[in-house]
Amino acid sequence: MSRASNTSKASKPFLRALAGETLTPPPFWLMRQAGRYLPEYRATRAEAGSFLDLCYNPGFATEVTLQPLRRYGFDAAILFSDILVVPDALGQQVAFKEGEGPVLTPIRSARDLDGLDASGLHDHLAPVYQTVANLSKAIPETTALIGFAGAPWTVATYMIEGSGSKDFAKAKGMMFGEPELFARLMALLVQATGDYLIRQIDNGAEVIQIFDTWAGALPEDQFERWVIEPTRTLVERIRAERPGVPVIGFPRQAGYLYKRYVTETKVSGVSLDPSVPLDWAAAELQTKCTVQGNLDPLLVVAGGEAMDAGIDRVLKTLGKGPFIFNLGHGIVPPTPPENVARLAERVKGWKG
Ligand code: CP3
Repeated sequence: MSRASNTSKASKPFLRALAGETLTPPPFWLMRQAGRYLPEYRATRAEAGSFLDLCYNPGFATEVTLQPLRRYGFDAAILFSDILVVPDALGQQVAFKEGEGPVLTPIRSARDLDGLDASGLHDHLAPVYQTVANLSKAIPETTALIGFAGAPWTVATYMIEGSGSKDFAKAKGMMFGEPELFARLMALLVQATGDYLIRQIDNGAEVIQIFDTWAGALPEDQFERWVIEPTRTLVERIRAERPGVPVIGFPRQAGYLYKRYVTETKVSGVSLDPSVPLDWAAAELQTKCTVQGNLDPLLVVAGGEAMDAGIDRVLKTLGKGPFIFNLGHGIVPPTPPENVARLAERVKGWKG
């Protein structure tokens, strides 16, 4: 077990920002900072085999987590893994097909759900915990270590659809048409996700981020029940069982509902997608918790003055309060690594 001590906390800008301090320049990292835009990632990935082989190989997963830190000096490292290792650990068939994304044997009936089994969760995820433990020793002293999981709703969409989806017809079909079955699946996910996150913390994760990529697909009453409630349960559990570990929530594309999310889940930080207006976020969200975001990832593909202007706009508005600079969603594979270097220099050079 390795847990962050108070002395290390004091020297980590990322943790200070999450505790409510305003820092100039702000700490920064980028979602999907490890990935296909980096040639060294592609090389390690080729050596490891499939994407899941990479996630379950602590040596390689540690290496790809560290790669972007070496280049850009980010203030946080994020465990290299995927949100879909949880359904995989519950016994659902999960594969990542080249150029297609994730493919799962869908859960559509009570019988499918009965086939899942949480009893082997920690054994299956042991290599992920090992990666966290490796990283907590390997990262620079001033860098914080982020553990993560998908939020139950977002993970459920993949489990029910069996792949990515544009309209979530099957997932919403179960939510609206078979509410008891859907509630059972969500309860299983809340429990397994909490167990998984606590174990990441016990292996050295200092911060948790919960990715609710498809939060924006739900109307308000369903958002309350299946985004806010499960997230609040996870936040309360982490706070009770592992006090002092901040949780960042990412209810992507939640729009106006970002405000209810922040107020009602009591997250320490909230990650903003690119559509969130900066002045509104400063007035309505940053007064309640630390905000993180929200440069459009496509601006980093474009680079140059367009990117610089976008970076400055975010820094000028959100840099006056508790803030972590990030993108509004993950880096995309066509991103030139030199544009990320330029972004890093600009953020680090920010004087307010
Ligand atoms: O941010 C990081 O550097 C840490 C690693 C990380 C990955 N996935 C690696 C990955 C994290 C935090 C995730 C989270 C994740 N995974 C989310 C939530 C965040 C988001 O992006 O919205 C979701 C929805 C997934 C599910 C997932 N994984 C999809 C839909 C895909 C296919 C799309 C794609 O980009 O290929 C993945 C694969 C994946 N996860 C890759 C990486 C680096 C690419 C795999 C490869 O090397 O081929």
